[in-house]
Amino acid sequence: MGDTRLEFAEAIARQAGQLAVDLRQHPDGLEIDTKGPQDFVTAADLAVETLIREAIAARFPEDAVLGEEGGLSGDAAACWIIDPIDGTANYMRGIPDWAVSIGYFDGMELTHGVIFAPDLGALASARNGQPARLNGAQISVSDRSDLGHSLVVLGYSQRVGLSDHLDRIGRLLESGCEYRRQGAATIGLMSVAIGRVEAYYEPSLNAWDAAAGLVIVRAAGGSVSAPAFPDFLQTPGEVMAANRNMDRLATLCRN
Ligand code: IPD
Ligand code: CA
Ligand code: CA
Repeated sequence: MGDTRLEFAEAIARQAGQLAVDLRQHPDGLEIDTKGPQDFVTAADLAVETLIREAIAARFPEDAVLGEEGGLSGDAAACWIIDPIDGTANYMRGIPDWAVSIGYFDGMELTHGVIFAPDLGALASARNGQPARLNGAQISVSDRSDLGHSLVVLGYSQRVGLSDHLDRIGRLLESGCEYRRQGAATIGLMSVAIGRVEAYYEPSLNAWDAAAGLVIVRAAGGSVSAPAFPDFLQTPGEVMAANRNMDRLATLCRN
């Protein structure tokens, strides 16, 4: 039987992604404001978040919403967690690794997640207790445990020192793993859930970057580690998602 919130989130993510695609054709869609070094916001980020917020307000007016651009609204324990465009720097330049991310925290735990990457033609979604799906087909994490064939996607946050990041890369390469940086946490987490890579690690990530992906990786049979909710709604923290080789890969990723 279908799940109302999951079907809603999938439909809204598709609409939101299409709006972002449309706005990229329009000069105003790429109007840039800079929140910090390499941290951009476009008119599309704002317009897409507004679309998602209005849809949630119309359908689930009792729920709170946390969005990257608009912050937290509402005081309910149940909260939608949205990143209108994750990977804005990629989106702006026409690199296909960006996505709309919609997660749902029911007041007790993260229960729903949808990631829609229009340029990749990929919609990944999951609800707790059900298999994760990519474009409708069931997905699962990889079963590789050989480090010499393992890929780890890393995120980098300026909130954490560069030397930690470089040390991490060094440890991974010395162990035989390879690493990638896609510039969008959602795409890294989705890649773990599909089994294209073995792990995603970022030392300081916000809830809107991670919420949907954490649900999807867990439903795909992976292991996840993130700050506890509801604190994570307010404060960024370390996020790791992996296949069954989580412990070994986490040892390599953590400083
Ligand atoms: C960023 C991306 C990036 C990650 C950063 C995020 P944004 O999100 O996910 O890969 O390393 O921590 O802030 O700003 O493109 O939505
Ligand atoms: Ca983001
Ligand atoms: Ca964003």
